[in-house]
Amino acid sequence: MPKNWKTKLIHSDAHAPEGFRSLSTPVYRGSTVLFPKATAVQDTWDQYEVGYTYGLYGTPTTLELAARICELENGFRTFITPGGQGAIALINLAFLKAGDHVLVPESIYTPNRKFAVDVLRRFAVEVTFYPPTTGAGIESLFRKNTRLVWCESPGSITMEVQDVPAIADAAHRIGSLVVLDNTWSAGIFFDAFAHGVDVTMQALTKYVGGHSDLLLGSITVRDEAAYKRLGSTHQLVGCAASPDDCSLALRGMKTLAVRLKALEETALGLARWLAQRPEIELVLHPALPSCPGHEFWKRDFTGSSGLFSIVFQQQFTKPQVLAFVDALDLFEIGYSWAGVTSLAVAYDFHSTPGRPNYGHRIVRLNIGLEDVDDLQADLAHALVSMK
Ligand SMILES: Cc1ncc(COP(=O)(O)O)c(C=O)c1O
Repeated sequence: MPKNWKTKLIHSDAHAPEGFRSLSTPVYRGSTVLFPKATAVQDTWDQYEVGYTYGLYGTPTTLELAARICELENGFRTFITPGGQGAIALINLAFLKAGDHVLVPESIYTPNRKFAVDVLRRFAVEVTFYPPTTGAGIESLFRKNTRLVWCESPGSITMEVQDVPAIADAAHRIGSLVVLDNTWSAGIFFDAFAHGVDVTMQALTKYVGGHSDLLLGSITVRDEAAYKRLGSTHQLVGCAASPDDCSLALRGMKTLAVRLKALEETALGLARWLAQRPEIELVLHPALPSCPGHEFWKRDFTGSSGLFSIVFQQQFTKPQVLAFVDALDLFEIGYSWAGVTSLAVAYDFHSTPGRPNYGHRIVRLNIGLEDVDDLQADLAHALVSMK
């Protein structure tokens, strides 16, 4: 049948040559997925079971990223979400219901804490915050209705490394699931499923993306039951990730090993140097004995990444600590981390219950890919100029 040019815009007979082979995964964008015939139409989220049905459940780009994260984490399946915080919210929505009880470490990433306080409690989920260093002692906080135990190891900003296997052992005895925010280890340095975790999440925004230009999250599950539970909630919450961002994350993965190696070396060098400085009371780097839970890092981790905190000596005032951050030249000031640029952010835990009382004296450093000597000189200059 001859076609009008307007129809040709939609149904073209033109073809580009075939046989292009590239090293990068194509970006498949798409909401509508075509079915071969009317009887084949279905709206099932599990694309592994039925093939592709709708872009919301993943395109080949999204699902390739998911499969690759799953492969690295040794899980059963992975879901990709539009951000790390989206992954946190989805896990809570999938596994909790009114009347359940969830345990959350005091050291958790602040928006994760806020979700528990502002959303879960509103939906009649009981929330208890626990000291991150409690280990097997978590047992004393269990209730008949405890369904989920969150872990984040090391914890955000205060960096406590948790005894995850002890927590998982205790949680499994009462039939509770254990969820871990495994972002700091990039899903590489801590083998979560081998240490008893049931569900992991990562902000792929950080090390996997690696260049501060995308927001993505992942959720990886140990077994099919958790996969089914998460999949149906993922469908109904409708949180599809952008295939363009997924393609950037796939590109980021290719350099993850060399980036992590460089970041680990530079961060360790600077952490050890800072520990000798008279201005610094404490370096909260999991690979240093001064970090709470260092013994668990030594026992359970195979490496360290580029994020750690420093605590200034008692005599330093808040304006002085802020002056230190402002005096840095190569370290920029900004949220998020794990990109190629070094960052510094000062925190104030005076009014945060459950956190060690470092007050205004704590600064978190994200180490980037700059030269280590230049970064050290920048820190030295800022330490001198804060006094
Ligand atoms: C430990 C941790 N988990 C989760 C998130 C949330 O990730 P996103 O920024 O992709 O929502 C962050 C972000 O800073 C984080 O530091």
